[in-house]
Amino acid sequence: TVKAVIFDLDGVLVDTAIYHFQAWHRLAEQLGYSFSLADNEQLKGVSRVESLELILKWAGMEKSEQEKAQLLQQKNQWYLELIEQLSPAQLLPGSLALLQRLREKDILIALGSASKNALSILQKTEIVGYFDALIDGNAVQTSKPDPEVFLKGAEALTIQPRYCLVLEDAQAGIDAAKAAQMRVIGVGKPENLIGADALVEDLSELVERF
Ligand code: G6P
Ligand code: MG
Repeated sequence: TVKAVIFDLDGVLVDTAIYHFQAWHRLAEQLGYSFSLADNEQLKGVSRVESLELILKWAGMEKSEQEKAQLLQQKNQWYLELIEQLSPAQLLPGSLALLQRLREKDILIALGSASKNALSILQKTEIVGYFDALIDGNAVQTSKPDPEVFLKGAEALTIQPRYCLVLEDAQAGIDAAKAAQMRVIGVGKPENLIGADALVEDLSELVERF
């Protein structure tokens, strides 16, 4: 039985993963480095700070704390520009139908996202009202694959982990859900979702399952 569903945000509910990639890619190019869409899979689900650390590592670059702070600020500024026009039109297929279905079935809903911009994205896409708990990048100390974000979600809902189902599009998120002893459905391409209990292409495939 599933008593609660914990949703990842970027790339699961909303089509923002591409904007994170575009902003990081632009930042990397400014540093004279480039990385591919395939490399970008490793950044999904990972916090802003840790994403920058990874890119600098790939590029073989070292930056001072002050430079890193400036780069993080620049990336977020570009990202915010890209999501400024975000609207319900950028909800991914099945997002709204699944949220509505879970509500009808009295299944609790939480957000488990690494993003510090999560609240604004939920507001712009007009789905914030569906959530019983919001755990985002401001609420956690450790990044996925650490289970903290999902365990905090379960705690906020007062539901035990074994009754929680996580929906994730990133390998780091699949690993985090497993570490939290939760069931997890991978959303997207199978090669980046190793260890998921089940896979779907998008959320529309899940609506009928509840
Ligand atoms: C999500 C995305 C990552 C992003 C992270 C932090 O996990 O998948 O690509 O880096 O959130 O997002 P933020 O909006 O705080 O920069
Ligand atoms: Mg994601």
